[in-house]
Amino acid sequence: MNEEAFWNSRYANPDYVYGTEPNTFLAEHADLLEGPGLSLSEGEGRNAVFLASRGLDMLGVDISPIGLEKARKLAASRGVSIRTAVADLATYEPEPDHYGTVISISAHLPFSIRRRLYPLIERALKPGGLVLLESYSMKQLSRDTGGPKDQDLLMTPDKIQREFPGLEPVLLREVDREVSEGTYHTGMASVLQFIGRRPLHRK
Ligand SMILES: C[S@@+](CC[C@H](N)C(=O)[O-])C[C@H]1O[C@@H](n2cnc3c(N)ncnc32)[C@H](O)[C@@H]1O
Repeated sequence: MNEEAFWNSRYANPDYVYGTEPNTFLAEHADLLEGPGLSLSEGEGRNAVFLASRGLDMLGVDISPIGLEKARKLAASRGVSIRTAVADLATYEPEPDHYGTVISISAHLPFSIRRRLYPLIERALKPGGLVLLESYSMKQLSRDTGGPKDQDLLMTPDKIQREFPGLEPVLLREVDREVSEGTYHTGMASVLQFIGRRPLHRK
């Protein structure tokens, strides 16, 4: 089964499998974030809808049209609108110098995609713009509370520093936290949390 078919089949469930409330790390730092916003691997919409409800103009990108259809329904049910784009991040080209915020929540991508995408994300930010990312960390491999079992998809502080060399770290930490974000992400988990800022002036 390819990625699109896998995620479409997961999202065929009428329930919101990752819930309808935003990721906790995102919610805790939302005051820092300005629009326009781009959400990588937005899925069923909980994070883009949350930021849209705070007034940010949001674009959610995902490989799953079924997930994004649920995202638009969630937005409508909350009285906000978000833009969506079905795209494979392996080939996606974000608009340069455009975004105040790019979020990446549980967007577990292989290095073969990240090495092309992350430099484009750095360039997609406006000067002073932020990337906010949370992903399962390598330590999550020993837990049974969700996330991929492939080391290539799991993040470490070293990987973040190597893969976002052009951003100034505002926050970079690996923490254990209780996650309660839908059916597949529940329980004590090890996560990598990163906020990085594009400098106002290029180095
Ligand atoms: C664990 S879900 C997280 C969804 C959402 N960010 C959230 O926190 O609720 C991972 C998402 O990555 C998307 N995805 C996986 N591979 C992708 C790719 N190559 N391009 C775009 N989206 C992808 C899936 O469709 C899925 O929505």
